Amino acid sequence: MHVGRQISLTVTLAFCILLACVNHGDAGVTSAFIRSEYPSVDIPLDHEVFKVPQGYNAPQQVRITQGDYEGKAVLVSWVTADEPGRSVVRYGTSEKSYDRTAEGSVGNFTFYQYQSGYIHHCLLDGLEYDTKYFYKIGDGDSAREFWFHTPPAIDPDASYKFGIIGDLGQTYNSLSTLEHYMGSGAQAVLFVGDLSYADRYDYNDVGVRWDTWGRFLERSAAYQPWMWSAGNHEIEYFPHLGETVPFKNFLHRYATPYTDCKSSEPLWYAVKRASAHIIVLSSYSPYVKYTPQYRWLAEEFKRVDREKTPWLIILMHVPIYNSNNAHYMEGESMQDIFEGWFVKHKVDVIFAGHVHAYERSV
Ligand SMILES: [Fe+2]
Repeated sequence: MHVGRQISLTVTLAFCILLACVNHGDAGVTSAFIRSEYPSVDIPLDHEVFKVPQGYNAPQQVRITQGDYEGKAVLVSWVTADEPGRSVVRYGTSEKSYDRTAEGSVGNFTFYQYQSGYIHHCLLDGLEYDTKYFYKIGDGDSAREFWFHTPPAIDPDASYKFGIIGDLGQTYNSLSTLEHYMGSGAQAVLFVGDLSYADRYDYNDVGVRWDTWGRFLERSAAYQPWMWSAGNHEIEYFPHLGETVPFKNFLHRYATPYTDCKSSEPLWYAVKRASAHIIVLSSYSPYVKYTPQYRWLAEEFKRVDREKTPWLIILMHVPIYNSNNAHYMEGESMQDIFEGWFVKHKVDVIFAGHVHAYERSV
């Protein structure tokens, strides 16, 4: 989706893709893209899209997300398999010339008997807008190099192209969607929940499939920010494995800049990027009156300045309107709580996933 005075909207969902011009107010034109008839089965573990990078303790599952409220920071995350190693990112504006260093943190966790790799999160802040940065992580022969572009300064006329992806998984269709998205020219992903579908597995395979998804995604997410929201497949309530803390894999692995917008939890937060103010909500966290999410959203709406960010976008997993048989009425309770606020604050677009079918209301 381009945001700016001239708007074209590209929505990419795991099972539907379309192109629409919202500035003319018509119903839009569907994309010429037609998905190939791949089987909708998970890609096998030994497929090259899940390949572990070569070298001792080589960084894998590299990904970035917006690291602050205003788009001047990037949060780099990666996993090392053999030992913690250093949580250091070297970076700069010239290729192979890394004149700055940032140090982050590393941690790991267990899920049933699965032992995660060493998960690193490192914030690069104080960045210039509209600038290409190169970065390097890892040591010696195992070091790896990537790059990203920072967004333009926050401005009502700043043009920016977002991709919207949800319910991605790791099937051959997921690969098709990702490759199609990567050819779109979009600059950042707004992800509307349901990441890896690792919860379709059991025992230690849950963690294994989170790792494969991280490696699968790296081809895009190491080079442009993916902004995360959580879906039902992130909950992973598995009492038969002794795993009853919701969102455990998701929260260890995927970071969000929630403290900058005064949120108390990574599951709901907001960022400003170019001409857009983006609010991320959690469909599976409490949101009724008096809850932290409810109270935070009330405050966040006050921080929206349409003079600077005329586009007000909300991400959530479960749509508040849905006429499909699948997941029918699951969004009714959030609709009941927040619909009045969305109308009052003139929210431009709400993007949701979950249903795996395209539908929109205006
Ligand atoms: Fe879902």
